[in-house]
Amino acid sequence: MKRVLNVVGARPNFMKIAPIQRRMQQFPDDFQPILIHTGQHYDERMSKLFFEDLQLPQPDVYLGVGSASHAVQTANIMIRFEEICLKQNPDLIIVVGDVNSTIACSLVATKLHIPVAHIEAGLRSFDRNMPEEINRLLTDAISSYLFTTEESGTNNLLKEGVDSSKIHFVGNVMIDSLQYFSDIARQSAILQELNLTPQNYALVTLHRPSNVDDPDNFERILDAFEKIQEDIPIIFPIHPRTEKNIRSFGFEERIGAMKNLRLIAPAGYLDFMRLLRKCKFVMTDSGGIQEETTFLGIPCLTLRETTERPVTVDIGTNEIVGTNTGKIVRSAGKVLSGEWKKGAIPELWDGRAAERIVEVLSNAHTH
Ligand code: UD1
Repeated sequence: MKRVLNVVGARPNFMKIAPIQRRMQQFPDDFQPILIHTGQHYDERMSKLFFEDLQLPQPDVYLGVGSASHAVQTANIMIRFEEICLKQNPDLIIVVGDVNSTIACSLVATKLHIPVAHIEAGLRSFDRNMPEEINRLLTDAISSYLFTTEESGTNNLLKEGVDSSKIHFVGNVMIDSLQYFSDIARQSAILQELNLTPQNYALVTLHRPSNVDDPDNFERILDAFEKIQEDIPIIFPIHPRTEKNIRSFGFEERIGAMKNLRLIAPAGYLDFMRLLRKCKFVMTDSGGIQEETTFLGIPCLTLRETTERPVTVDIGTNEIVGTNTGKIVRSAGKVLSGEWKKGAIPELWDGRAAERIVEVLSNAHTH
């Protein structure tokens, strides 16, 4: 029996851990999964709603760290997580993605000689100004089990000198969740509530510091939205960081004047999946949404200069559009005139990644 600490902290972690937690619960003789929530995200709409939608059990341990600077947040997670590791004495910890909770918990466990499994390993944007890139590089450097979602992840790790025996190409747990919950998400009433017609709105998410902490970049993107909303309604579920900056940069009036741009509260998982499946196209700076749109065959305009998920561009429906106003508007025009590429589903994005991961871990030599 392996005692495993499954770590979550921020919104994009919940849909990645859910399939692992569920799979482990099917093998109670082999695994005792213990769910740890660092509390990096704590708003009801950024956290609790996701536990309900994803049928996750209540966390066994809640560290309640909340928001702070990177150093303070990471340090607080480390201090509290070390106590939990000492108390729980796990055989293994699992971390997902690239948020501060991911690196904080990996570092603590490794120093206590507890093996770390990193899910979504090897992704690289090659932009070290992104906090997530630093979290990815460091977590991968100290993890014992590196589970990759696409070939680029495996290749990046090999190039960094990682022993191939540590790398397991298993597919994408985010897609496991998307498929598992697709029937339930169909019952969401969000389209009716917002009075939206399928295929007749664009969906936006924006929260990267490089876009929303920088008033010039943010304004260039808003300039593009101003034009695009003349042709198609835009729905914009608003991240707390983005909302705060809209206020502090004084953009409220400008946004209020765009009649066809609608800001809504952050959507839960099921409502967001419904919005995603039925939209005409997406404009985003998120990582995961690039993958979800590729799986669903929906055009995705990534408002960044790089992606750590190149398979979504190479074979999927994603394009790296950047933050130039004209380029965003032209790209949206391409979608609206039906000129966007079609795309295919990447290898092993088949809803069974968690099964593969749990299989590998059941044979793992642990602590
Ligand atoms: C974090 C991740 C990012 C991920 C994103 C998804 C890091 C370095 N970044 O960024 O990779 O894509 O989550 O959302 O880990 N806030 C709230 N309520 C909350 C959470 C945050 O109001 O529940 C506000 C706070 O003002 C906080 C700010 O949002 O200061 C930023 O939160 P933080 O967790 O630091 O980073 P995110 O921008 O959410």
